[in-house]
Amino acid sequence: MLSVYKTLFLDYLENKTTIKEPKNLYEPIQYILSLGGKKLRPILALLATDAFDVDPKKALDVALAIEIFHNFTLIHDDIMDAAPLRRGEITVHEKWNTNIGILSGDAMLILAYQQLESYEPIIFKELTQLFSKTGIEVCEGQQLDIDFETRDDVTIDEYLEMIRLKTAVLVASSLKMGAIIAKVSKEEAQKMYDFGMNLGIAFQLQDDYLDAFGNPKTFGKQVGGDIIENKKTFLYIKALELCNENDKIELETLFSRKLEKNQQKIDSVKLIFVNSNAANQTKSAIKFYTEKAFAILETISIAKDKKQLLRNFGLQLMDRSI
Ligand code: IPE
Ligand code: IPE
Ligand code: MG
Ligand code: MG
Ligand code: MG
Repeated sequence: MLSVYKTLFLDYLENKTTIKEPKNLYEPIQYILSLGGKKLRPILALLATDAFDVDPKKALDVALAIEIFHNFTLIHDDIMDAAPLRRGEITVHEKWNTNIGILSGDAMLILAYQQLESYEPIIFKELTQLFSKTGIEVCEGQQLDIDFETRDDVTIDEYLEMIRLKTAVLVASSLKMGAIIAKVSKEEAQKMYDFGMNLGIAFQLQDDYLDAFGNPKTFGKQVGGDIIENKKTFLYIKALELCNENDKIELETLFSRKLEKNQQKIDSVKLIFVNSNAANQTKSAIKFYTEKAFAILETISIAKDKKQLLRNFGLQLMDRSI
């Protein structure tokens, strides 16, 4: 049933992307948008509109705006994280170069806004206000993420705020924008947002977990990338809190600089993540935020079958391997 929304979106996306001149601006855009990806944010936007009994097709431009925006953040994120792989393929800045990645990303941000021009003025204003607020928050989260790389005193609360900003607000806004299209009350739209926020936090926790423990054959990104970049993830912060004194010194030393050769660092860090029980606690936290999302979902006034779809979506996210 969820695949209906994905197909609806993919058909729409296919008709919308064309390569124009200059090629070095448009080819990277086409490239990243055609690499696949889970399309979870567009699915959530369409599903939210449908959940309030409005034709999900009305949310297609919102879904497209969000997916283009998301892919823009991926290009720039891969530059910032020095990532070689995205969705199983070489990243834009490695295939072309960093300048091309920056400019294609900039153009995508503008293209994302353009998709919203099809909405009537009142809805357009509501959508752009939320979209702009969300975009700025993503920037704030991304900067915190980078700032944390060189800090050694990041707390769990600071980490949670960082992932709320860089990831969860866009998941939340996807649902709320779907609700705005359906013209529901502020209260119902806000509940969708809060549901998405908690789902988004669980989602980023899982992303961090898979970055360390995912299967390199299927994950589509460089496994261990966060360890190489000294990212202060839930895994890392929890491990420091839980491990013995020797492991603490080892972990802090390994994360105090960037190295040329990384495999040994990745292996040692993962061992500490597992032995300290930080890996298990991350799994528990993913479950906790997913359940919190489900509790909010229960309070939303939508049909039972639509609730079930959203619930299944959350469960699938928790069990995913990519
Ligand atoms: C990756 O998002 C960036 C994060 C916020 C973790 P997704 O995992 O949704 O990426 P795709 O679109 O499915 O490739
Ligand atoms: C990225 O977080 C969030 C955004 C793109 C805004 P990550 O850096 O963890 O995402 P991945 O793992 O590269 O997809
Ligand atoms: Mg990244
Ligand atoms: Mg990043
Ligand atoms: Mg990640």
